[in-house]
Amino acid sequence: MNITVIGAGYVGVTTSIAFAEQGYHVFVVDSDKEKLEKLNHAILPFYEEGMEEILKSLLEQQQLIFTNNIQDAVRQSEFIYIAVGTPPLPSGAANLEQIEQVSKAVGSALQEYRTIVIKSTVPIGTGEKVEFIIKEQLNLRKKDIKFDVVANPEFLREGSALHDALYPDRIVVGCENVRARQMMEKLYQHSKAPILFTNRKEAELIKYASNAFLATKISFINELARVSEELGVNISIVSKGMGMDKRIGADFLRAGIGYGGSCFPKDTRALLAMSSEVGMPLKILDAAVGINETQVTWFMKKISNLFGSLEDKHIGVLGLTFKPNTDDIREATSLKLIKELLLHKAIVSAYDPKSTALVKTIYPEIWITTDPLDAINNVDAAILVTEWDEIVHMDWKEARRRVRQPYLFDGRNVLEPKKMAEYGFYYEGVGVGNLRKENLHG
Ligand code: UDX
Repeated sequence: MNITVIGAGYVGVTTSIAFAEQGYHVFVVDSDKEKLEKLNHAILPFYEEGMEEILKSLLEQQQLIFTNNIQDAVRQSEFIYIAVGTPPLPSGAANLEQIEQVSKAVGSALQEYRTIVIKSTVPIGTGEKVEFIIKEQLNLRKKDIKFDVVANPEFLREGSALHDALYPDRIVVGCENVRARQMMEKLYQHSKAPILFTNRKEAELIKYASNAFLATKISFINELARVSEELGVNISIVSKGMGMDKRIGADFLRAGIGYGGSCFPKDTRALLAMSSEVGMPLKILDAAVGINETQVTWFMKKISNLFGSLEDKHIGVLGLTFKPNTDDIREATSLKLIKELLLHKAIVSAYDPKSTALVKTIYPEIWITTDPLDAINNVDAAILVTEWDEIVHMDWKEARRRVRQPYLFDGRNVLEPKKMAEYGFYYEGVGVGNLRKENLHG
């Protein structure tokens, strides 16, 4: 069976590689010729460990073809996956322009029955909209061709994208009739993951609800960290104790300076916009978003309280990407933190193994290096923002020698406070630590 995937972004390319790995022939369609050219040479538009090698071998086996010829691809494929972007509008709602364009193109390319599957994260009711647009195109062409539109959301995480796409916890398929369901059963017949069949709208909401719930879990622990700090309680231990309850689970319960990335911030705001549109604004989610938006400022207060003024203080930022093992800085906490540091007139240096060039263009006034020790040379405080292995396992003994003042702020609660104290650092995490003025100065 052949599959066409429209949209050569993170989700589109990963989905295509996963299908190709399972033995399907995949046409990946995109309008960006430069991107296609690079992909044809196995150069990815994003960083994902090991993925370029896999892509290279799939290209050699001709299992995957990158093309801008949508007509041809649709003609040769039983399944048409839509994986284009749904970026946020100023209101927070998802912009469906690309989805609409692609639906039109599919409508003009259709020659016989096809199963059209929406992989992009889309607002509830988009499946219906896509169906309507395709029908309109067919009417214009005076063609009576049968087709189905299915919702099959993606749950992959950056940094482990291919693994998540190949071995998902569950596959959610939203369809409206038996034919579409049978097609999807055939497509996923070799998959070991449980498949949940729902209707289209349910599948669309499952995607938003899952991301919103995980984001809320993080904001819950982050807000609790603020309180536990006041109470003198270590949030990491509280989180551990809570996570051991199977009903709660330990994942996404690590306090930090807030979540970022291309999904959580965007999807939570989009779900909020949708809930307001129907007159039922989600209050818990609204609070979760609010906590995340103020988490950096709350964290920054700890630093500015310590120094009084940050003017001309030299601060080293460790990690720029929104999470480790990616080069993505979309909605990265580091960017908000650097902005605040510069507003406070601090001198900033930074380290990241994968994302330096882009951050340099955003903040030309900061010095960025690919050596973590250089980034904290002579600093008054070091702040860990992204838990890259290169940072967590850096030579902290040498790091202590390099810094001017040994203040260490752990924005991800990943360092061992006792160990750091042994190296001679004053350690402060999120809801963990003792850098409060009263502790330091009696
Ligand atoms: C997320 C979802 O996990 C994935 O299912 C969906 O398809 C896309 O959005 P991703 O954005 O790649 O994936 O990263 P994820 O690992 O979920 O982390 C998101 C953010 O939450 C990161 O900034 C991370 O640092 C933060 N986080 C995560 C915490 O602050 N604490 C935690 O305990 C876990």
